[in-house]
Amino acid sequence: MKIWHIVGARPNFMKAAPVYRALARRRATQTIVHTGQHYDAAMSDVFFRQLGLPRPGHNLEVGSGSHAQQTAQVMMRLEPLIAQARPDWVLIYGDVNSTVAAALVCVKLGVKTAHVEAGLRSRDRTMPEEHNRIVTDHLADILLTPSADGDANLRAEGLPASRIRRVGNVMIDTLVRLLPSARRLSPLGRGEGCAPFVLVTLHRPSNVDDPRHLRTLVAALERIAVEAPVLFPVHPRTRAKLEGKTVKGVTLAEPLGYLEFLALQTRAALVVTDSGGIQEETTYLRVPCLTVRPNTERPITVTLGSNELIGTDPEVLVRRARAILRRGGKRGRVPPLWDGRAGERIAEELTARTRR
Ligand code: UD1
Repeated sequence: MKIWHIVGARPNFMKAAPVYRALARRRATQTIVHTGQHYDAAMSDVFFRQLGLPRPGHNLEVGSGSHAQQTAQVMMRLEPLIAQARPDWVLIYGDVNSTVAAALVCVKLGVKTAHVEAGLRSRDRTMPEEHNRIVTDHLADILLTPSADGDANLRAEGLPASRIRRVGNVMIDTLVRLLPSARRLSPLGRGEGCAPFVLVTLHRPSNVDDPRHLRTLVAALERIAVEAPVLFPVHPRTRAKLEGKTVKGVTLAEPLGYLEFLALQTRAALVVTDSGGIQEETTYLRVPCLTVRPNTERPITVTLGSNELIGTDPEVLVRRARAILRRGGKRGRVPPLWDGRAGERIAEELTARTRR
């Protein structure tokens, strides 16, 4: 079985790792293509190293650009490689520009794709990822969903049941495997048994691209920092918008490696984020999470997990953060099939469909 994995941006790497490992156990011939959407060492190399992913067979080096430029460059550079290699399956992950670009290339070459993390919908048309999700799901041959809401969304859009397979959450596979290694680290001076702190990530265009809105969120973080230290590893997109400003009481750090960030999540009293993956990781870890967005494509983290969707009003953020720091927050439950075996189920499904 000849498998290609297309990855490009930070949240793809932890999803591809368990699938790669499960397929390696089945002796599949595998190639990783890195589109180069994320290229900083801190956004890419450290993840390959920590996750044990082999070096990519191809790096398309597309880099940054507008959505159209990035998507088009991935398509142009990927097409000749896929046309020549003609893998049995191309695996695509999540909802980034590299994902939709790969789906378009493969479907037109008649090469089969499997979409890992299919079916998620925020129903927010201002979110670039929402378009990537919808287009990718309608093009892919197998839709591998993390939870029942994913299946329901796909069925509601008319996608046939035969293409949908619920496998659980692959990102949790990586978390389960690497938790013991993460627990041995003390990033930013926070080891086991440290005093309570708040961990923050913000990088969504809707939160960081408008400097006025970003300033109001940063002012809210300064007020939260009066209650407990705030640690904020800053995504390059956010860093550019902060323009070197210091934030009172808030430790601004470079983006962290996978293990370092996981270690901090396990010890945080509260996580404040607008990331998708972090809503899921905190749900698994049962750490209270406030999501600074009006909607989420991962509703199960709210209905079952430890996540609370609070919108983007800084006053609400401060109020909810204070309440959680003083009285504790929701712990929730771990959703079904978030059990560390999703990669195995994906490998089984691909093997079965290749034999047919
Ligand atoms: C992308 C994904 C988003 C995901 C996020 C995780 C899309 C549409 N968005 O957003 O879903 O949550 O990755 O990080 O695919 N930059 C660097 N170094 C890098 C990468 C980016 O400096 O290694 C800077 C550049 O200025 C770039 C900006 O960050 O223009 C944004 O990068 P881009 O890949 O366009 O989108 P993200 O905001 O990272």
